Amino acid sequence: MLHWLEKNLIKTLRSLGRPLSFEEAANLLNRDVGTVAKTAQWLKEKDLAEVEAKTIHFISLGLEGEIYSFEGLPEKRLINLLSDLGGLTNIDELRRNFNENLFQIGLLWAKKNGWIQIETRDSEKLVKLIYHPGETSEEKILKQLREKKSLEFESLDEDLKKACLNLKSRQSVIKMNEVKKYYVRLTEKALQIPEEELEIEEVTRLTQDMLISGSWRQYRFSRFNVYAPSKPVYAGKRHPLQRLIKIVKEIFVEMGFEEIRGPIVELAFWNFDALFQPQDHPARDMHDTFYLDQPRFGDPPENLVEKIKEVHETGGLTGSLGWRYLWKREEAEKLVLRTHTTATTIRYLAEHPDPPIKVFSVDRIYRNEKVDWKHLAEFHQIEGIVMDKAVSFRDLIGLIKEFYSRLGLRDVKFRPSYFPYTEPSAEAIVYLREKNTWLELIGMGIFRPEVTQPLGVKYPVLAWGGGLERLALALYDLEDIRTFYFNDLRWIRNISNIYLEKKIGIL
Ligand code: PHE
Repeated sequence: MLHWLEKNLIKTLRSLGRPLSFEEAANLLNRDVGTVAKTAQWLKEKDLAEVEAKTIHFISLGLEGEIYSFEGLPEKRLINLLSDLGGLTNIDELRRNFNENLFQIGLLWAKKNGWIQIETRDSEKLVKLIYHPGETSEEKILKQLREKKSLEFESLDEDLKKACLNLKSRQSVIKMNEVKKYYVRLTEKALQIPEEELEIEEVTRLTQDMLISGSWRQYRFSRFNVYAPSKPVYAGKRHPLQRLIKIVKEIFVEMGFEEIRGPIVELAFWNFDALFQPQDHPARDMHDTFYLDQPRFGDPPENLVEKIKEVHETGGLTGSLGWRYLWKREEAEKLVLRTHTTATTIRYLAEHPDPPIKVFSVDRIYRNEKVDWKHLAEFHQIEGIVMDKAVSFRDLIGLIKEFYSRLGLRDVKFRPSYFPYTEPSAEAIVYLREKNTWLELIGMGIFRPEVTQPLGVKYPVLAWGGGLERLALALYDLEDIRTFYFNDLRWIRNISNIYLEKKIGIL
């Protein structure tokens, strides 16, 4: 029994009546060369074919050849000029009228070809034209190479072959490459196989009828080559930054947190005042914060306005002295694009003053920054709070360590810091092994009484917040933070779906 591929190859060879190279056969059969090689081998084992290897040389233009193919061979140009000058000229005059660089080459080959003679008359050196040929074989070769880029040396006729070798002896006019080519030829035995035996019934599609009647048993189905090269198809997928957000959220959820969200357009009251940030604090400046033009103001919660005013002015019932200035309601009524998601957690805390609380948010914030490779004006923060009867700063440190270790970042250090709304305050830095640097990632602390007391919160609140993009940069091994917003399809398409999972070691 012959395989249908074997039958196909035999039929093709018989109809052409000559040996075929594997490439030609592959082309005719619409298969790849490997399949043809395999099929030829099967036939060979059955004594139906012979496989023969031939070394083929391909010629193409070299650097000089490229130029000559456009401008003509120097020797030919030289005698053309000589002929224009009357066929007999002083050598120096000829040189002056010709291209300096090519003169020697032209002269040499024109002489070698017997087209010119150099004579000395009265101590004057003269060049004399003795034969002016039409198109030479060398010129034919150059012309063909210019059109076809490459020629098979073995298939040239003798004349052109000689011209080729001639040109090849000249530095970089012609290049020659060797390629091994395989041919398959049928044996006598294969030629004698009756036509009917080579018939194959091959179908590409299985139909309902074939299934019902059972006729599918008679057919041979075309095989699909699942390894054939094809155009890549890029399936839709989550953006790399969104993927990190998803992972971060999952980590918090696994750690027992609930997600909260808050408005992007926020009252200065929540963004600053409720966080005990004085109204003349530089961060509230227009240079740092985007203020809304329309509408400009919103309504802060009436039940809290007086309390916050008091805490800012005198410290209220907290035992603090406050900032000791005149707090203006109007300032707190201003609408801003939130500059941190601590606005979101404090809002939540005001509405949920009773323990236990364990919430987080991963969301957008806005700052009036000049955008460059390190800065964005719109980015994300990771934020969270924990409130319970007996939580402490140690719990906060443990929590942050745990969070980062779940992101594969196991070296975390803490150093003292300052925020108007926390005491003590710290920031966490993590070690990036590959870059051998420490990265500042997050601010943290315990909310001050000036923050919690006016809201009626009686227990310690652990709070933290920090940028997401910087973390993303480190994890994706990027330099420019804008990469996440360039929409560079090449990067987005090619980055693996499980890049992060692998990187942080959860896959
Ligand atoms: N809001 C601070 C920032 O944007 C981070 C922070 C949050 C600090 C909570 C302390 C407590 O950098």
